[in-house]
Amino acid sequence: MTSPNAPTLPPQQQDHEKAQAAAAAVRWVRDGMVLGLGTGTTAAHFIRQLGEKVRAGLKVQGLATSLASEALAKEVGIPLLEPRRGLTFDLAIDGADELDPQLRLIKGGGGALLREKTLETASRYLLVIADSSKLVPQLGRFPLPLEVVPFSLPWVLDAVEKLGGAPVPRMRKDDPTASYYSDQKNLLVDCHFQTIADPEGLAVRLKTIPGIVEHGLFLGLAQAAIIIQDGQAQVLRPGEAARPAAEFSELP
Ligand code: A5P
Repeated sequence: MTSPNAPTLPPQQQDHEKAQAAAAAVRWVRDGMVLGLGTGTTAAHFIRQLGEKVRAGLKVQGLATSLASEALAKEVGIPLLEPRRGLTFDLAIDGADELDPQLRLIKGGGGALLREKTLETASRYLLVIADSSKLVPQLGRFPLPLEVVPFSLPWVLDAVEKLGGAPVPRMRKDDPTASYYSDQKNLLVDCHFQTIADPEGLAVRLKTIPGIVEHGLFLGLAQAAIIIQDGQAQVLRPGEAARPAAEFSELP
């Protein structure tokens, strides 16, 4: 899904910023790290740049948050792990559809929110990488994605409508008459709240609706974000002022 923020940033500049944020993050990856690999165009930049480092001798292992990222990681030579009990991650690196100054996120525009939240909850550190269009004062302009069990869809739509979410089942980009399915064969629903004044309260409510497997609010998970501002990679930590990424030789 294209970010509704995107028109404010020319696509070429947006892609350049994504690559720049990925480059700032890859500097902090160390030998021996077990990595959660995100999904989306920004995460794809990171995976490709990490692959270059692996081919130059960096020793890491990863697990991807989608079949698409898994295929890319294999292609660029990153050794991959399988899900197993006890597996935790030193670092997960992922994009976001929106982030606010507290580093609360909306994710799932690429449909991978369930695997993303699973790995990022099992990570000691989540580093978000994003172009400048993703930072917002308040979440909600980007439609909030839900992953929904197909049988439950009608009742999920009714319940989310009552919460003011204007839910729209996601269709495939290459065939707008066909439903979009996640890697788990569930449906995606995009909820147009416009503004989400209380993300924590909304997250609790969504968790009580049967059939919603996961929602795209990622709260209290990100330790830091790299965001491009005025052409420079800046580090954001929850509620703190931005600092140049170049100041940090290790994870901030
Ligand atoms: C994937 O499901 C998402 O959570 C992505 O991380 C998010 O959509 C950001 O994608 P881009 O990096 O492509 O903007």
